[in-house]
Amino acid sequence: MPDVRTPLISGNWKMNLDHFEALRNLQKLAWLLPKDIYQRSDVSIHPPFTDIRTLQTSIEADRMDILLGAQHCHHEVTGAFTGEVSPVFLQKLDVKLVICGHSERRDIFGETDEMVNAKVKAILKHNMTPIMCVGESLAEREAGETEAKVLGQVVNGLQGVKKAEVGSMVIAYEPIWAIGTGKTATADDAQQVCASIRAAVTASFGADAGASVRIQYGGSVKPGTTEELMAQPDIDGALVGGASLDPDDFSQIVKIAAG
Ligand code: PGA
Repeated sequence: MPDVRTPLISGNWKMNLDHFEALRNLQKLAWLLPKDIYQRSDVSIHPPFTDIRTLQTSIEADRMDILLGAQHCHHEVTGAFTGEVSPVFLQKLDVKLVICGHSERRDIFGETDEMVNAKVKAILKHNMTPIMCVGESLAEREAGETEAKVLGQVVNGLQGVKKAEVGSMVIAYEPIWAIGTGKTATADDAQQVCASIRAAVTASFGADAGASVRIQYGGSVKPGTTEELMAQPDIDGALVGGASLDPDDFSQIVKIAAG
C-alpha cells in the first residue's frame, strides 16, 4: 500500500495563553505559514478551552487552514460533571481534533486506559479526530518495559473502536521522560516504538487501519530535531508542547515536517 499519510503537526498549548494572547499567537502563525503548506501537511493548534471560541471566530473570518483542536473532553454528552466539557460543545465550536490520554492528564488527574477509551469513542462519535497519547516513564524505559506499557495503552485505548475509525485516528507516542525536559528520544528509538504501535494496530484492526493511522512523536520537539524524526517511516507528524507557544519556532517545525 502506498504511503498516503499526510503529516500532522499539532501545537499543544497546555495551560498557557489567555484568549487575547492566543489570538495574537494564532494570527502570527497563520501569517508565517505559506498557503501551500496545507497541501503537504495538516496543522492543528490546541489552546485552553477558554480560548477556543475566540480562535474559532478568527479562523472562520480569515479562512485560515489551521485546524482547531482541544486538549481534553469528557466522554459524556451532558450531565452533572462540574467543570467538565462535553464533546458536543467542542463539535459546535468547529473543533476538529481532541487530544486524549495525555500523560499529564493520566498522571496528574488520574485518567485510566478505560477513561481514555471512553473519550476516544465519544470524540469519534461526534465526528472529531482523537489524538490518543501513549508513552512510558523513565523507570519503565530503564526496566525494558517500554513496548509492554505503550502497546498495552494502545490496545486498551482502542478497545471496541471500529476498524475504519481506528484508521482515521492519530496516536501520539510521547515518552513521558521527554516531555518538557529538553530530552528527545533518538530518531531510531522513536521509530522503533512507532513501528511497534503500527504493527499492533495492524494486528488488531487489519492492514488498512495500520497503514492509515497517523502516528505522531511528541516530547521536546524543536526545529533542530524535527527533520530527523520526520524522516522515519512510521512517524507521521509531531505533537509539540513548549515550542508551539512560539509561532516562529512552531512555523519552522511545520515547514520542516511538511517537507
Ligand atoms: P513538549 O510537550 O514539546 O513541551 O515536550 C509535548 C506534549 O506534552 O505534548
